Amino acid sequence: MVKIAPSLLSADFSRLAEEVKKVEEGGAHWLHFDVMDGHFVPNITIGPQVVSSLRSQSSLFFDVHLMIEKPERYLEAFMRAGADLITVSAEACTHLHRVLQMIRDLGVKVGVALNPATPLSVLEYVLTDIDLVLIMSVNPGFGGQKFIPSALAKIRRLKELLGDLPIHLQVDGGITAETAPQVKEAGATVLVAGTAIFGETDVVAAIKMLKTEKKLV
Ligand code: DX5
Ligand code: ZN
Repeated sequence: MVKIAPSLLSADFSRLAEEVKKVEEGGAHWLHFDVMDGHFVPNITIGPQVVSSLRSQSSLFFDVHLMIEKPERYLEAFMRAGADLITVSAEACTHLHRVLQMIRDLGVKVGVALNPATPLSVLEYVLTDIDLVLIMSVNPGFGGQKFIPSALAKIRRLKELLGDLPIHLQVDGGITAETAPQVKEAGATVLVAGTAIFGETDVVAAIKMLKTEKKLV
């Protein structure tokens, strides 16, 4: 069954612990942290201190998505803060292979994110070094953007490429009741959703809706 990773970016930042509790009780599997530095992406969001503060409040799997330049400078800080998985943007790493090894050596799971225009070929020589590929289905930086349709063909091709390898195929950006069934059908195994979960009054129903295998007509 597909895993649901609510993105805290769309949560109420004045009540983060309560928001986390809500999605945890609502059946979320992972908690997705969008870390932005104002350089790699235009927005600035959260740092390790927020991850660390929430670690004691939740037993969810902490999925830390770094949208920052030179992520190697902060890997250890996020590991210490309680990350279970750290994903770096391929485009932000001059030495992607080295950065992935650094994450592995810290003892956490390893992810690579690809922007919408980045080809899958950048993964070719790192497939044995990673636990997750994150296909960005919007240009990173903000929640609430519209799903970019070309991501579907990319997910299908990646699914083929991954074959039986034990690698999660995560999709992030513009996941809604309409796009969730399409990305699942294409091969996604982990869905990140911000607006479609925290933007709803009934968070439990929203998570259930994203999990359901039923296709919308
Ligand atoms: C975008 C972030 C996403 C974002 C998703 O840069 O990586 O995780 O919060 O938000 P929605 O689900 O609203 O598109
Ligand atoms: Zn994200």
